Amino acid sequence: MNEKFIQIFRFTGKYFAAEKENSPALTLSIPGNLTGGENNMAVLKAENLIKIYGKGENQVKALNGVSLSVEKGEFVAVVGTSGSGKSTLLHMLGGLDRPDSGKVYIEDKDIFALKEEELTIFRRRKIGFVFQSYNLVPVLSVYENVVLPVELDGKKADRAFVNDILDTLGIREKAANLPGQLSGGQQQRAAIARALAAKPAILLCDEPTGNLDSRTSQDVLGLLKISGQKFSQTIVMITHNEEIAQMADRIIRIEDGRILASRGRRMA
Ligand SMILES: Nc1ncnc2c1ncn2[C@@H]1O[C@H](COP(=O)(O)OP(=O)(O)OP(=O)(O)O)[C@@H](O)[C@H]1O
Ligand SMILES: [Mg+2]
Repeated sequence: MNEKFIQIFRFTGKYFAAEKENSPALTLSIPGNLTGGENNMAVLKAENLIKIYGKGENQVKALNGVSLSVEKGEFVAVVGTSGSGKSTLLHMLGGLDRPDSGKVYIEDKDIFALKEEELTIFRRRKIGFVFQSYNLVPVLSVYENVVLPVELDGKKADRAFVNDILDTLGIREKAANLPGQLSGGQQQRAAIARALAAKPAILLCDEPTGNLDSRTSQDVLGLLKISGQKFSQTIVMITHNEEIAQMADRIIRIEDGRILASRGRRMA
């Protein structure tokens, strides 16, 4: 298994060299799901999540009984129309907000049974978030931004590991630059590097390529997928982009706060 990862990573290295010569999209060459089949552990599980916003007439059932299970190493795309409940679901899965009822288990831990401070620490250690807005700190360099969550956790960043991520994402030469000196796509990749740096078990991404052109989106997605495979991370990603969704192992479609259908290796 590791050998496959290494081979792919070497291929990635070649890709960077070849990219300047307009090589075909990296993503075309990524084998499907390398981690599937060998480890069936559900790293993330949601049971009958219900979330209601507002009261009376204005009540909105943002989540209306959502259950799903995501395996370790799986890359799941979440699609659905605007207002269907995708971001609400992602926030619940990551413990950023509490459901009115239902449970979320991360590595078999019932996250909403944790005290608020425990949940904050658990979240920081287990989950990486990538939002549409990059949320980079403008006065810190790219490198400092990337290691910030690790250092907030009182740990020393693994410099070699972080450099490896920056290499994988093609922004190592920008490590000393401020975010404002980077292009949108590079900032997006810096935000992804930051999410990966703490080696989270799970990456939750809310339209991480929403502001990028389609070519850059495809590249960032390909790199994200390879990073996920290389570091054995599970990815749940909201996207409006059908091409990007097609790169996932599984697509979950949400409508009116419910899972409509799931396409891929297995059902939700
Ligand atoms: N804090 C809030 N207060 C009240 N209603 C909310 C709140 N957050 C979300 N909603 C409502 O819940 C529903 C689901 O919202 P959500 O943000 O999850 O949608 P979405 O699928 O992420 O949409 P989009 O694709 O536009 O980002 C919507 O009707 C929205 O208006
Ligand atoms: Mg949303």
